[in-house]
Amino acid sequence: MVVFENKAIPKLLLVCLFVQFSVSAANFFQPFNVTYDHRALIIDGKRRMLISGGIHYPRATPQMWPDLIAKSKEGGADVIESYTFWNGHEPVRGQYNFEGRFDLVKFVKLVGDNGLYFLLRIGPYVCAEWNFGGFPVWLRDIPGIEFRTDNEPFKREMQRFVTKIVDLMLEEKLFSWQGGPIILLQIENEYGNMEGSYGQKGKEYVRWAANMALGLGAGVPWVMCKQTDAPGDIIDTCNNYYCDGYKPNSPNKPTIWTENWDGWYTSWGGRLPHRPVEDLAFAVARFFQRGGSLMNYYMYFGGTNFGRTSGGPFYITSYDYDAPIDEYGLRSEPKWGHLKDLHAAIKLCERALVAADSPQYMKLGPRQEAHVYWENTQSAVLNTTLSESQSACSAFLANIDEHNTATVIFRGKSYSLPPWSVSILPDCSNVAFNTAKVGAQTSVKLVENALSPKISAPELVMTKNEVSSISESWMSVEEPIGIWSESNFTVQGLLEHLKVTKDESDYLWHMTRIYVSDDDVAFWEENKVSPTLVIDSMRDVLRIFINGELIGSVSGHWVKVLQPVQFQQGYSDLMLLSQTVGLQVGLKGEFQKIFTIEENEKAGWTNLKLDATPSTFTWYKAYFDSPDGSEPIAIDLGSMGKGQAWVNGHHIGRYWNLTAPKDGCPDSCDYRGAYGSNKCMTNCGKPTQTWYHVPRSWLQASNNLLVIFEEIGGNPFEISVKSRVPRILCAQMSESYYPPLREWLHLDLIDGKVSISDMKPQIHLQCEDGHIISSIEFASYGTPHGSCQNFSNGNCHSPNSLSVVSEACVGRNSCSVEVSNAGFGSDPCRGVLKTLAVEARCVSTSTIGVSQF
Ligand code: GAL
Repeated sequence: MVVFENKAIPKLLLVCLFVQFSVSAANFFQPFNVTYDHRALIIDGKRRMLISGGIHYPRATPQMWPDLIAKSKEGGADVIESYTFWNGHEPVRGQYNFEGRFDLVKFVKLVGDNGLYFLLRIGPYVCAEWNFGGFPVWLRDIPGIEFRTDNEPFKREMQRFVTKIVDLMLEEKLFSWQGGPIILLQIENEYGNMEGSYGQKGKEYVRWAANMALGLGAGVPWVMCKQTDAPGDIIDTCNNYYCDGYKPNSPNKPTIWTENWDGWYTSWGGRLPHRPVEDLAFAVARFFQRGGSLMNYYMYFGGTNFGRTSGGPFYITSYDYDAPIDEYGLRSEPKWGHLKDLHAAIKLCERALVAADSPQYMKLGPRQEAHVYWENTQSAVLNTTLSESQSACSAFLANIDEHNTATVIFRGKSYSLPPWSVSILPDCSNVAFNTAKVGAQTSVKLVENALSPKISAPELVMTKNEVSSISESWMSVEEPIGIWSESNFTVQGLLEHLKVTKDESDYLWHMTRIYVSDDDVAFWEENKVSPTLVIDSMRDVLRIFINGELIGSVSGHWVKVLQPVQFQQGYSDLMLLSQTVGLQVGLKGEFQKIFTIEENEKAGWTNLKLDATPSTFTWYKAYFDSPDGSEPIAIDLGSMGKGQAWVNGHHIGRYWNLTAPKDGCPDSCDYRGAYGSNKCMTNCGKPTQTWYHVPRSWLQASNNLLVIFEEIGGNPFEISVKSRVPRILCAQMSESYYPPLREWLHLDLIDGKVSISDMKPQIHLQCEDGHIISSIEFASYGTPHGSCQNFSNGNCHSPNSLSVVSEACVGRNSCSVEVSNAGFGSDPCRGVLKTLAVEARCVSTSTIGVSQF
């Protein structure tokens, strides 16, 4: 049988450190109350098991939000979670910004529009690899301020911001009891990690923060994460790779996992972390198995640190996080799909999970255990046959052995459990899902040259596939070295960077003039010594110039600088140090805003020659046409050194071409055993980031202004703009796999009239929206060999394989194919366990013309 599914085509103490949418006026839901008991949040009178997906709204554009929320919902999320970003919302004290990427109200409303709940983690210290963990830089200038402790000036500012946010949500009627989506709030963030260092004042602060939050009249429960002494009504929650077995500090509070780290962040010159989905699914299943009730993926979509929002030290512009939805808003497979199946399986158990006050525990082996949830606990105690016909029963069978498969007997039936896995039995009998058996498709994302122009001078020959061209050659203008305008100033002594820049720029020029006498030179020569510039401690990057010439560069986090310098007799200009220091915030080009469409002409641009030698401290500009289609756009800055880039005035982020260490990436990643961020690294020996996301909504069809500020030298002629989309999908499943989870929904689990065991597994393929399957590159039902992009037929192969799969899939956005003899007409090899392997190609409907299909 072939099943068709036709979709419409269409973190300073800080450690880490009108596209218009039709947003309805409120009342996304009938007003409902949120309370809790020891087992779960109680939403509108009912306990709920909730899956939540973290999406930080400013790490995407408002135009991306609807799709991200839809994909989260489709992936099985009930809740969307985000921090708030104080320095984004109040860049200048008292001047608020809730526009564009910071339009929190719009974001929360969109979530509500989609029928999803919202978990708002206000902080306002949030860490999050976000600049200063979210604290506005002006906070430092408040007299007598001490952050995150029992300090009046700090508490006043914190209370003001938290109140602002809560009041805004109240005004917009976004809390559940107002008919809005917000069901849960967070105050502070992982303060438990710091509390000890503040002594008694830390304890006072925790009490104050809790009371302050509770006094704001938000009317929904509050959480504090990693805060074992969370007072009174505040629920203390877990953040970790695993949170099964976590117990809040009161038997009246539910077990909530606010951060399930499904990947990790990256630094310039670092490897890329990867958390295998089998382990992630295991962690989630174990959490619900052992009494957990709400789990939030940190992140479900990580996104991009646009502009200068990335925290430090040295966090890269991409915040992909190896999340289920990648930086570009595309599903990351098989992570997204496998978790979708997991969520569906957990949902099938919800009735029993919420009904039971606690699970029945059964030891199944030395490292194997079951937790059984009965709708009617009374009958579980009696363990009568009667209970089985009257109660829903769901079970989780875990094998926590890291190495071996275990065969266990549960309620008279035998189950094979792969190592480090959980099987979910929504009816306490049939396995709907095992965390280690991935049935989801994998996708290979290709960046396609063919759809986009290489940015180049007009005299370069374009290849015929390049559909659009650049309207102007590259132009450049040099950034003056040192002080450049009248707005500079002089002081005695040195000032600290942020005090001067107020974080308006990454750059701060220090300049002084040094006089070297004949005697000095004679002394150096006689003693065969040369002067050394010593800076006791500095971060993050320092460049040292003498008389306009770069003589040294240092980068690091609080490192000592020892730079030998050579002076001629007479006056020398030294940028950085001496008795009199002249200071200047920022670069001239920044000050003139030469990256904007309106102001770029202000700079004295000159044409850049193709053979120009790479120069330091240079601005470059060029124009390019958008690649056709609706696919996400990436710009390859791999040929550049270090700097920042803007497209049509939008700051796409910092770039830095640093390469990850050659070693430390395993050949293959073993999902088994406890995960840590260093476990399954990828990208060894390659630049950490070369692709930078340019959101579609920042582009126009043609003449897009690209401006780059380059510090150390690069070749702009090799910059290219490409579109990015999964072109190749692969899936592989054996006939012994589980029937599709959606089939369970049609079953009456109590009466058991329909037998799930009669149903067959199905392979499911799905292109991104706006794409369809154009061809099946490989299909074999039998005993195929190899892996994605490398499949080959085995000894057993059904001759109908290609035609059956093609017929079901080609021309469609998504399709399902049953993995059974019946599906392929006959049994190609009796007595042999058969597998279906498929490789499909997706194309954009806009490039092929839908009419062909
Ligand atoms: C947590 C923190 C998050 C984020 C995460 C690492 O400890 O609460 O904000 O920084 O670590 O990605």
